[in-house]
Amino acid sequence: MNVIIETDRLLLRTFTIDDAPLIYDLNLDPEVTRYTHDPIKSIEHAKEILEKVILPQYVLYNHGRWAVHIRRDLEFIGWCGLKFRAEHNETDLGYRFKKSAWGKGYATEAAFACIRYGFKKLELKRIVGRAEPANAGSCRVLEKCGMNYIGDQVIEVHPARTYELFNPLIP
Ligand SMILES: CC(C)(COP(=O)(O)OP(=O)(O)OC[C@H]1O[C@@H](n2cnc3c(N)ncnc32)[C@H](O)[C@@H]1OP(=O)(O)O)[C@@H](O)C(=O)NCCC(=O)NCCS
Repeated sequence: MNVIIETDRLLLRTFTIDDAPLIYDLNLDPEVTRYTHDPIKSIEHAKEILEKVILPQYVLYNHGRWAVHIRRDLEFIGWCGLKFRAEHNETDLGYRFKKSAWGKGYATEAAFACIRYGFKKLELKRIVGRAEPANAGSCRVLEKCGMNYIGDQVIEVHPARTYELFNPLIP
């Protein structure tokens, strides 16, 4: 297990191609993909996403979406991490957790650790977060991480509230 970040309760590690079934299972729940609009059709499809989207980010940018496990028993509960979006020339924070893990502060704990990693270790200047206005839980996570709301946009036909945070370590 290639662990990148440890928090009080969580481990964040890089995904591998063998994680396709975990990604598939996570996205099977329509409540989990309700605001993400990216259902995964099969384990083959999950493999393709790993190969084309998730794994290349590790090599190109030294960061990406990381698998999140509970430290105590190593249960996989979802993912959290940073992603460089070339189309906007910015790095965004994202997360997705199994319903059984919601409401325990895990998203905030993982997201906060990713922001800290992005600023301290990767020396990123700015991190952005986006969520649909109706996705109150996700907006709340961004706010609890100290991100500042900067306005609404439409991204690929879906409304999005945009938040940003500048690296306090870079003047
Ligand atoms: C959004 C998500 C990551 C939140 O995960 P989580 O582990 O439950 O988040 P946390 O427990 O750290 O914090 C959630 C906060 O949102 C609040 N919240 C959750 N649902 C809410 C709702 N419907 N209305 C208002 N607040 C809500 C919680 O009360 C909590 O705030 P509090 O600590 O001030 O009480 C999780 O629901 C998820 O994975 N959803 C599916 C995928 C997704 O939508 N990802 C984000 C795409 S932008």
